[in-house]
Amino acid sequence: MASSSSVNLEDLDSIDLMNELLRRMKCSTKPDKRLILIGPPGSGKGTQSPIIKDEYCLCHLATGDMLRAAVAAKTPLGVKAKEAMENGQLVSDDLVVGIIDEALKKPSCQKGFILDGFPRTVVQAQKLDEMLQHRAVKVDKVLNFAIDDSILEERITGRWIHPTSGRTYHTKYAPPKVPGVDDVTGEPLIQRKDDTAAVLKSRLEAFHIQTEPVIDYYSKKGIVANLHAEKPPKEVTTEVEKVLSS
Ligand code: AP5
Repeated sequence: MASSSSVNLEDLDSIDLMNELLRRMKCSTKPDKRLILIGPPGSGKGTQSPIIKDEYCLCHLATGDMLRAAVAAKTPLGVKAKEAMENGQLVSDDLVVGIIDEALKKPSCQKGFILDGFPRTVVQAQKLDEMLQHRAVKVDKVLNFAIDDSILEERITGRWIHPTSGRTYHTKYAPPKVPGVDDVTGEPLIQRKDDTAAVLKSRLEAFHIQTEPVIDYYSKKGIVANLHAEKPPKEVTTEVEKVLSS
């Protein structure tokens, strides 16, 4: 739903308004949560995020999605990020820190956030600490999507995406009703340029060298919860629910 500053509320559909009102009432009873999701490509961060987001009324900030939107729109940020992304390398810390700092100001992040794919280096984690210190808040939990590399190629090469909504499918594990078509809109699905076996190798290398130290960084703070990300999606959701309700 668009913000009231850009839309006349009288023009909105009554059902939409009621649903939004009900959603906000439900949200007001939920505890604030600030979460980080860490895991290698294809470990299920993007699959679990919308479920957590709806349950706790948090904003979902996925740096990969934001960067892909910038690349598609050919913004200066997108132009700088494109080559690294296509090669499975990380884009520079400054670029992603800037987009997260800006995104955290959104009203939808008022009750907390899910950071999906950020921080990915220790420098990014330190910068995030600084950003949160200024806002007098801290990260509550880091969900570590632990999974063996050998499972990931099938997940990555079988993934299909509805680019407008971000809905994700998998040819084997989460197939759309009609192959190649989004269940909700009927629009065509696409595959990401970096979802090939060859680029996955570089992405995994970046994960092990640059991102695994971030798990150690948060382990020292005692806030990491390890998930069994190789399990089927519903079982992973149950594990997440247990961690977040404890
Ligand atoms: P990004 O978009 O963040 O990609 P990623 O981390 O590689 O993660 P993925 O989106 O591939 O995996 P996912 O864990 O979300 O898996 P999903 O749930 O979709 O980053 C892309 C690029 O942007 C980076 O390479 C880098 O260049 C740049 N970038 C982004 N953030 C950056 C940062 N902070 N710093 C620097 N550079 C940055 O699941 C995958 C598939 O498996 C789906 O088809 C799904 O249906 C299926 N699936 C999910 N869970 C299960 C399950 N439990 N069982 C069976 N199938 C499952």
